[in-house]
Amino acid sequence: MAKRLIVKVPDPILTKKCRTVDNFDGRLWTLLDDMKDTVKAANGAGLAAPQVAVLKRVCVVDTEDGYFELINPVVKSQSGSQTGLEGCLSVPKKYGTVTRPMKVTVLAQDRDGNEVKYKVKGFTARAFMHEIDHLDGIVYTSKATDISDESK
Ligand code: NI
Repeated sequence: MAKRLIVKVPDPILTKKCRTVDNFDGRLWTLLDDMKDTVKAANGAGLAAPQVAVLKRVCVVDTEDGYFELINPVVKSQSGSQTGLEGCLSVPKKYGTVTRPMKVTVLAQDRDGNEVKYKVKGFTARAFMHEIDHLDGIVYTSKATDISDESK
């Protein structure tokens, strides 16, 4: 396992749409292991593959509800809403206000290719939506109603 370099804005790789994962092989496992090292070292709530320059539909979420590996995630349903502050490892020292659903149900695959379903809420739902957005080239700053510096 190894830490990978995190891509920062305005790198155009962050605006690209990612490809579906078809091969659940050692290469994918290494990517997932490296992403875990990277997000833990950065103390982030999540990380998406394009943030480590890999254009695949892979992301991880790390919150008090657990550590999640999402491959080819699809949002099946969402309800409610929450408005709050969000940050991103690719947008250093900034925070923005973003409205997200309060609860989401996400279908995905695990690292073996098995179908998994997660029902999450609150901050974890926010993190899921933020990371899944990255797979479509969307950085939260395009959805935020205001962006401020960490120091303020
Ligand atoms: Ni992010």
